[in-house]
Amino acid sequence: MPKIVLGIESSCDDTSVGLTADGRILANVSRSQLEHAEYGGVVPELASRAHLRLVTRVAEAAIKSAGLSFRDVDAIAVTRGPGLPGALMVGVSYAKGLALALGKPLIGVHHMEAHIHALWASRSPDSAPAGPIAPLIALIVSGGHTYLARLESPLEIQILGRTLDDAAGEAFDKTAKMLGLGYPGGPQLDALAELGQPHRFHFSRARVPGLDFSFSGLKTSVLYFLEDQVQKNPKFIQENIHDLCAGVRTAVVDMLLEKTRRALEESALNRLGIVGGVAANRLLRREATALMESLNGVLYLPDFEFCTDNGAMIALSGHFRLMRGHTDDLSCTPDPALPWTS
Ligand code: KG4
Ligand code: ZN
Repeated sequence: MPKIVLGIESSCDDTSVGLTADGRILANVSRSQLEHAEYGGVVPELASRAHLRLVTRVAEAAIKSAGLSFRDVDAIAVTRGPGLPGALMVGVSYAKGLALALGKPLIGVHHMEAHIHALWASRSPDSAPAGPIAPLIALIVSGGHTYLARLESPLEIQILGRTLDDAAGEAFDKTAKMLGLGYPGGPQLDALAELGQPHRFHFSRARVPGLDFSFSGLKTSVLYFLEDQVQKNPKFIQENIHDLCAGVRTAVVDMLLEKTRRALEESALNRLGIVGGVAANRLLRREATALMESLNGVLYLPDFEFCTDNGAMIALSGHFRLMRGHTDDLSCTPDPALPWTS
């Protein structure tokens, strides 16, 4: 009988539950919380309340969509951190209740490790999905984190670089806000940039040693440039929105891929996986494809559904841990700043 893992994700503003059978995805049901849009960012207290309201229904919908009953579940995986304290508390408490009621093991999962495990996400009806060929380099780009890592296997991950300040998604969202776009601005900025000239406006790229990133300088450079131009012409942003978005997008993608190229070179590898919400960015996808073609390499990009926060990646993480016999007891607690030590 295949081992069924139920995964619960509640670290930010997505309530999501996924199910895997021996690592193959059976269901992935998500509810985004739209109530944050009017505040221009995620409101932690609203997120906790929304998770509480949604988690039972989302879990029931996932079980139904997989054609299972809760009694079929062999283990319950849940995001322990990093994330918003109250939001994590809802997911972990629900997972503990389920583990206790079903008499099944609980598995605490690191959110960023789970983003990487999305590279193994497959709904293929064949038994266990093969996943990417390791070793490989992973670029993890989300709203809260930016990492470069080297993977030897799903649970052997070496962090090579990280952001020293803002995350890549945050850089998109904050500059999008300066340009008057709604929240989260990343996808809108990407769509508008498709119609713009990428090299009309040049924004500064950070020079950070090694494989680390920094995006706060870009944010400041956009802010000062816009303040200066708007003073001369109050309609400057509206009149140049496409080129401004294209200029920002090119700067972020250049910085991401410059370090990625260096990580590949230094590791002498030509396999790359990109995960996290920013992996949806059209320019990043195009440029990463071109980079890997030039290196005669392979690019792994999970379906968008598995790039943003989702329960299926948590179930996959649980699956890999269960195979190694890693489970937690009911004293497992959420940790908003959970270190990544693998
Ligand atoms: O992984 P994710 O869903 O949540 C976190 O764990 O943070 O990532 C969300 C981030 C947001 O910052 C959002 O603006 C960004 O991913 N994002 C994009 C695009 N789609 C989502 N950024 C740029 N271009 C996109 N197409
Ligand atoms: Zn995430």
